[in-house]
Order: sequence, then C-alpha cells, then structure tokens
Amino acid sequence: MSVHKEIKKVTTNVLQEMKKRGEKIAMLTAYDFTMARIIDSAGIDVILIGDSASNVMAGHETTLPITLDQMIYHASSVVRAVNRALVVVDLPFGSYQGNSKEALKSAIRIMKESGAHAVKLEGGREVKESIERILTAGIPVMGHLGLTPQSIYKFGTYNVRAKEDDEADRLINDAKLLETYGCFAIVLEKIPAALATKVSQSISIPVIGIGAGGGTDGQVLVTHDMLGMNLEFSPRFLRRYLNLYESMGNAFKQYISDVKSKDFPNDKEQY
Ligand code: KIV
Repeated sequence: MSVHKEIKKVTTNVLQEMKKRGEKIAMLTAYDFTMARIIDSAGIDVILIGDSASNVMAGHETTLPITLDQMIYHASSVVRAVNRALVVVDLPFGSYQGNSKEALKSAIRIMKESGAHAVKLEGGREVKESIERILTAGIPVMGHLGLTPQSIYKFGTYNVRAKEDDEADRLINDAKLLETYGCFAIVLEKIPAALATKVSQSISIPVIGIGAGGGTDGQVLVTHDMLGMNLEFSPRFLRRYLNLYESMGNAFKQYISDVKSKDFPNDKEQY
C-alpha cells in the first residue's frame, strides 16, 4: 500500500517517507476555504498558501506587495478547510530577509494566527540565519531555489534559471546547505530538468519541482493556472486540466441571459 493511501494526516515525516519509497508528492496552491476544501478532499499531499496570491487573488504584477497580514488571512481560510494535507505558508517579501529576529516573529505570527503547519521562504545561504532561528521555535521550514519570484527585480525576467554552470553549481550547493540548516523540503522553480534531478538525488530531503522536470520527488502547480482560469499565463511547464476560464465565462453569460429574458427564476426556483 502507498504512503499516500495509508495516511490520514500528512506531516513532514510522511513526505520524507514518500521520498524514501520513491512515491511522488503532489502539491497545489490554495488561498481560500472553498478551493482548499475541494483540493484536500481530492487527496493532495501538500497545500501551499503561495505568495502567488499577490498575482492570482489581488492582481498585482509581482509577489512583492502582499503583506504578512494578507498571507495570514489567506492561510487561516485554507486551514479551516483542510483535514489531511500538510499546509505550508509563504513568508512574504520583507518579512524574513536580512533580519532573523524579524523572520522568527513573522513565522510565529503565521503559525499562531493561521494554524498552518510550516513556512516556506526563498533563497539559499543568504537566508541561513533566518532559517536557523525559525527552526529554534520548532517551526518546519521549506526552502525555495531556482526562479525565486521575490527577487524578480534582481533577475529582470521570469526566464529559466541556472542554465550556466556557475549558477547551477551554486544552486546545488545551496540545496545541500538548506538540507544542512534543517529544511524539511525544497521547491525548485523553473530550472533545467537534468539539474533538478541531480539535486533531488544529491540530498535526502524531498524536492518538489515547478517547471523543473519529472526527476524531482514531487510536483507543484498554481491551482488557478492548472484549472485554466488564467489563459494569459502559458509557460511550457504548465499542464491545464480544465478550461475553467471558458466554462465559467459561458455559465456567467447564460445566467445574464436567463435574468434578462426572465427565464430565471422559474416557478420552482421561488417560494
Ligand atoms: O507562490 C507560489 O505559488 C509558489 C509556487 C509557485 C511554488 O511559490
């Protein structure tokens, strides 16, 4: 029997066991109660309250503007819906970089006020102190390397990262360091598949990829993208499982037409 089927509640130890057994980890984002309930009921292993909420929910161009209070609001809505999945929350831009005491304070607020199970933060050696201090409070930390959207103004583009040897070497070293600091898992975003496979084989903690090929220990996608709710975002790595933009648009058009034509409500749809 697979770990996925046996388990009633996913913990960081369960993810570790899945990696050991070669069982892939499935992770998706959620930002609200209703979506989280559907995703959790479907049997997802990990739900991420990503700072992609800044783009998806608030319409910002980058992940930078979202605040700690807003992340806590989204996370607490998700936590109320979840029975099984491990719930991980992104520490937003400005809440952990450069000041480990501030990082610990932010992580404690997330855990206390939302009831989530872990935090995620972007970066390698430069966030060592923040990771180590957060871990002293017993808060599990997920790392994030490769394309790290909070540094978009340093990169300049959302192109594939670590194609050159020196950046690839640095990434491998950073992944090893994150394991040494005590991270329970790492997200690798938008890097060559061969590099992601190498990283996954070089460290013992689970590696979850997005745009990083099939050699990682698991996959994550932004839920709204995989449901086809946002047709403007079409990277090569994205598989769309539905075209909800079209289906929802058609439903809204039908409703408008039914109201205008007085078809809705009919006799059975009233008291
Ligand atoms: O914010 C987010 O949704 C993420 C995923 C893309 C991993 O960090």
